[in-house]
Amino acid sequence: MLRIGFVGWRGMVGSVLMGRMLEEKDFAGFEPLFFTTSQAGQAGPDVGMDIPPLADAYDYDLLKTMDVIVSCQGGGYTEQCHPELRKIGWKGYWIDAASTLRMADDSVIVLDPVNRKVIDKALDAGIRDFVGGNCTVSLMLMGLGGLFENDLVEWMTSMTYQAASGAGARNMRELVDQMRVIGTSSEDILNNPAAAIAELDRKVISTMRDPSFPTDHFGVPLAGSVIPWIDRPLENGQTREEWKGFVETNKILGRTDNPVPIDGLCVRIGAMRCHSQAFTIKLKRDVPINDIESLLAAHNAWVRVIPNEKERSMQELTPAKVTGTLNVPVGRIRKLNMGSGFISVFSVGDQLLWGAAEPLRRMLRILLE
Ligand code: HSE
Repeated sequence: MLRIGFVGWRGMVGSVLMGRMLEEKDFAGFEPLFFTTSQAGQAGPDVGMDIPPLADAYDYDLLKTMDVIVSCQGGGYTEQCHPELRKIGWKGYWIDAASTLRMADDSVIVLDPVNRKVIDKALDAGIRDFVGGNCTVSLMLMGLGGLFENDLVEWMTSMTYQAASGAGARNMRELVDQMRVIGTSSEDILNNPAAAIAELDRKVISTMRDPSFPTDHFGVPLAGSVIPWIDRPLENGQTREEWKGFVETNKILGRTDNPVPIDGLCVRIGAMRCHSQAFTIKLKRDVPINDIESLLAAHNAWVRVIPNEKERSMQELTPAKVTGTLNVPVGRIRKLNMGSGFISVFSVGDQLLWGAAEPLRRMLRILLE
């Protein structure tokens, strides 16, 4: 029976992964061992089967006995442990969600509804590192997979509306705290329907600009605002998040030698855990909208084509609707004024599910097949 080690299962992505594995009754047919960086010896999580006490996540001799290690512990852990394990001759499969190994020559970015063939080829070739992609990239490909599969994309821009969860659990808390502070400070004015709107507006902005406004994690207000910068700057003016859109997409598709040009601006907005994205796509040929919708809808079981209608778009194409589900709605699909080969698409997806945990649990299932 395969021995599978789980590291970082208690954090935000890890607990979503555990939740999904329990939901899908994945804990069967293998021997799980849960690792911890701080609580070795304590009882592990309830996964519906008998499990040994928590093991030390830096015990290389024990880690070395695992056939598969699934880590949601973050890039620091991967950076430290992965090379060490390989150095001492560990030949098991490494599955994680960190960006550390994503662009390595001997790793595969996993998103099996999009690149199962790439994954199977890599397994046959003896590749052992399988890494979940950047959330905006995975969600984009889940939504637009039908266009890429049919090689219809000449180039594309992606303008993102990224949720607080992408920055971490503390950032999600800070976003809600910011909302609370704005709400509390404006309460009296809000409760008085006769109060002038200018008064409410002044109160909100003075609250947001007050030095006491909670911004420890974002650095600036997000509630009532946006932050047009995600991750580190690169020398060409892109952010690292924007760079990933090009390099990771093409790596996932197995077309690094013949890449599709993709670029855009990544922006943080005040949603909790759903990333939205607006795409401008230049098609290789003029395709009728109905055909585009059919290709998109046929690609996988989770994409949902939403007709380009006001009510349906407002109801179904939003983080409020999609959060906590695996659905990836795509809508606002129409030809643009630039010409008949140009289309717009808007998509929404849960950043913690398809954007993080789901590709990992599915990769594990592939190894167990
Ligand atoms: N980097 C992403 C974000 C999340 O900041 O939203 C992880 O892929």
